[in-house]
Parts: sequence; C-alpha cells; structure tokens
Amino acid sequence: MTAPHPPDGGPHPPDGGPHPPDDGPHPPDDGPVHVVVMGVAGSGKTTVAGILAARLGRPCAEADDLHPAANVAKMRAGVPLTDEDRRPWLEALRAWLTAEARAGRGAVVTCSALRRAYRDVLRGAEGRVRFVHLVADPATIAARMAARSGHFMPPSLLPSQLATLEPLDADEDGVVVAADVPPDEVADRALRALGLG
Ligand SMILES: Nc1ncnc2c1ncn2[C@@H]1O[C@H](COP(=O)(O)OP(=O)(O)OP(=O)(O)O)[C@@H](O)[C@H]1O
Ligand SMILES: [Mg+2]
Repeated sequence: MTAPHPPDGGPHPPDGGPHPPDDGPHPPDDGPVHVVVMGVAGSGKTTVAGILAARLGRPCAEADDLHPAANVAKMRAGVPLTDEDRRPWLEALRAWLTAEARAGRGAVVTCSALRRAYRDVLRGAEGRVRFVHLVADPATIAARMAARSGHFMPPSLLPSQLATLEPLDADEDGVVVAADVPPDEVADRALRALGLG
C-alpha cells in the first residue's frame, strides 16, 4: 500500500522511495540520510531526536512546529486531526527534508508518523528517509505525559494514537527501538540499530 505522491512531489519513483529493503548497507557518502524519530505522543521523540542530532551533528526539527494553526487549535482542544488536516503538515515536513538534502545534509526530525500513509509522504523527500520508531508500554508513556507540562498534546489523545499506530512494515526503511531506558541509552540503541553507533 503506497499513498500517491502529490503533483509537486518531485522526481521520485512511484513506489515511495529509492531504497528497497534488500539493498544492503549504504556507505556514508551515499547522499543525505534523514532520520525521522516516530512514535506516539510521549514516547520520547523530542528528547531522543535532540540527542541524535547532537551526536550526528545534524540539524533537528520538530514536525509539530510545521502544523497549521488550525491543527494546533484542534489538538489543544483534544480533537484528533483528520488525514485531510495532516496532508499540508506532512507536505511541509517533506519540503523541509528536501531543502536540507539540497543543502547537502541529512536532518533529524520528530514526527509521530503513526500511519504508513503519512510515512509514504515523508519518504518522497529527497535523500534517504529512515525511521526510528520509539516504543514503550502505554503506562510508561502515560506517566511521562502526565509529568510533562507546557505541552499542547493532552494525555487524553494517547488512546487514539495507540489505536491509529501502524508499526513499520518489513519493507520500510527503519528500526524499532525500545524506549524503556534513559534517553541517552535510547539514543545509543537507535544509533546502533541504524548502523551509525
Ligand atoms: N527514555 C526516557 N526515559 C524517561 N523519560 C523520558 C524518556 N524519553 C522522554 N522522557 C520524558 O517523557 C516526556 C515525553 O517525552 P517527549 O516530549 O520527548 O515525547 P514526544 O514523543 O516528543 O511527545 P509529543 O509527541 O507529545 O511531542 C518528557 O517529559 C521527557 O523528558
Ligand atoms: Mg515532541
């Protein structure tokens, strides 16, 4: 299942990206490699992405910062976004990744990327787009979210996030990392799983 690329998606193959799962390890000079840190709210994306970006010397962005104001208002109200709401957001994120690739660098970005269709949009960016899925048990995530302040994502959205989550398929370019250890160790695991540690 692959979402169609919109007309402005650029010169990408229709299968969602140039990296089939069996094409082996990529050498470091194989072009920009983006790392998308994904997972449900509270799984540690922002925390871990910051560490990864610092260790890799890469720019880091929050997909949340690219949401249209209407989406932010909905999330503040505890209203789940529709896929129609998400489309311009994902396209903005894809455009940012492409701009980074054209500047000659890979980037680290946080994005919940819960559904494959969303990841298919991001895979359309220039460069290799790799996903790091942070997983932790729901009780741990709920406790972390409850302890966190000053954030627009209320814990009430967690059940719908978990229901929406489509884990990485075998043909997707990504790794699954258990986020049940301190953030530095989660980052270690991610780098090892990506072959960058
Ligand atoms: N591995 C970890 N161990 C303990 N606490 C963590 C860990 N990772 C993140 N946290 C804490 O859990 C809370 C949620 O983490 P964070 O904000 O990074 O999650 P997020 O996935 O970015 O959430 P959102 O999707 O809502 O942006 C924060 O208070 C953070 O400090
Ligand atoms: Mg975050």
